[in-house]
Amino acid sequence: MTIQWYPGHMHKAQKEIKEALPKVDLVIEVVDARIPYSSTNPAVAEILENSDKKRPIIRILNKVDLADPAITKLWCDEFDSHQDTRSLPITAKKPEEVRRLIKLCHQLLPDFKQKEKPINAMIMGIPNVGKSTIINILSNRIIAKVGNEPAVTKRQQRIDLDEGIILWDTPGFLWPRIDNTNSSYRLAITGAIKDTVLEYDDIAYYAMEYFREAYPQSLKNNFKLEELAEDTTQLLEAIGRIRGCLQRGGRIDLDRVCKILVHEFRASILGNISLETPDMIKTEMVEVEEQIRLKAEKDENRKGKKKKRRRR
Ligand code: G4P
Repeated sequence: MTIQWYPGHMHKAQKEIKEALPKVDLVIEVVDARIPYSSTNPAVAEILENSDKKRPIIRILNKVDLADPAITKLWCDEFDSHQDTRSLPITAKKPEEVRRLIKLCHQLLPDFKQKEKPINAMIMGIPNVGKSTIINILSNRIIAKVGNEPAVTKRQQRIDLDEGIILWDTPGFLWPRIDNTNSSYRLAITGAIKDTVLEYDDIAYYAMEYFREAYPQSLKNNFKLEELAEDTTQLLEAIGRIRGCLQRGGRIDLDRVCKILVHEFRASILGNISLETPDMIKTEMVEVEEQIRLKAEKDENRKGKKKKRRRR
């Protein structure tokens, strides 16, 4: 599965971040706690690494109310193991949790004085992670648009929090990870990639295979199943029979079952579920790097052949 993003948007966002960076003392990246790796922006780490000034990074794992708490803990430990990085697991459903960010910023930069020398903090995140909701809570007003339409470009905003922090909302559109096919599926399952980009059936099959492996009991409880069929279609059909998703002639309406599965995951009716763990990502990264290496090799060969043809 390949997802097309617009290179123009990508370059614009990258350029704007680089331009704004010199004035920034601290970076806040908001990610979705259910997919903390897949919802990071791959360019952010690269830009920060190549910058001459070292800045603390706060990774907000938002939407913990939907994620598996044990896995969120693993991710926090993973992020905290990196120098200059601190994790902050929160749910924007609880404003008091969001406000913990203010204290953490001051803890990380104790030399900054409240009024005379405010902290310039840049906040960023791919669409749909809850960045606007968090900004609105921190500023006590409706500044950023909140909505369920991913990929909406916003203007750069300077938000004075009156608490010794100036928040810089990253402009442009930050794209999610696309180098790992698993990430594309996970982004689609959570709704971070528009539903029109991918077939519901594709993402539901991927989700079902993962849930059967990682959360069998949640499936059994939610769909009142005694056993989980090994075959994914059979498993979906079993759910279809229980939920009365029948077409004319008694055939199971698989499209409807797929929609139910994805909807009930997103609405956390299935329970607290995380779609990736740090160990899963380590394994996948080895595969991704191998794919990138093979592709580069193929491209080289192709170029070599082209040159030879030209010389003839
Ligand atoms: P963005 O700026 O990063 O694109 O995200 P935004 O704040 O617009 O939030 C995207 C959706 O995620 C919104 O739902 C928002 O309410 C929801 N959301 C944000 N934080 C949390 C959280 O911690 N937990 C849960 N469960 N949901 C969260 P929506 O359905 O698109 O809008 P609405 O129904 O809230 O109006």
